Amino acid sequence: MSIWSEETQVRAKEIISRYPEKRSAVMPLLYLAMAEDGYLTDEGMEEVALWVGITPAQVRSVASFYTMYKREKTGRYLVSCCTSISCMLLGGDDILHAVEDESGVPHGETDDEGLLSVEHVECIGACGGAPAVQVNYELIEGVTSEKARDLVNWLRSARPEVVNTDEMQELFGGVRSFDWAVSEVDGAIGPYPAFQPLGTVGTEVGE
Ligand code: FES
Repeated sequence: MSIWSEETQVRAKEIISRYPEKRSAVMPLLYLAMAEDGYLTDEGMEEVALWVGITPAQVRSVASFYTMYKREKTGRYLVSCCTSISCMLLGGDDILHAVEDESGVPHGETDDEGLLSVEHVECIGACGGAPAVQVNYELIEGVTSEKARDLVNWLRSARPEVVNTDEMQELFGGVRSFDWAVSEVDGAIGPYPAFQPLGTVGTEVGE
């Protein structure tokens, strides 16, 4: 019997059906396990192993390789500041320090309330819009230290149910990589990616 909710089980079945080999679904199912529990628990990884037909040790070896799979409780909003070369040259370290200072949360930590987690990350693929920050993997480009402080205070006061790239870019961003980028209507509801195949927000299972 599954430890997951009915909804998560429906999503898991739908995701697995997309692959010729069910073990290929291990990575999206790890995100489902995170969405279910807020982070990857031992039980969640064992559940993934059952669903995709591999051993828990094999699931753990995948989960431990990628930093986006969180093994500890993460705040409702995960603020990721890029400090790789393009962002670093344009003030990425200052932005990280501004976020840490304004939130009182050092890199790798979560506040007592469980609202904000802060981390510095390697390149998040937005070098053209450096310096870049993500909240729950929703991107904001062209951020300044001042805007980063505003972002922290906005998360604390507005506590949006869904964080959305377009909205945060408008409020806290600057120059984007591509002005012609497709408008992002969905958003993230937790500290895991809002991949549409997971039906996280705005997409029904099976679409
Ligand atoms: S170096 Fe920051 S997004 Fe690439």
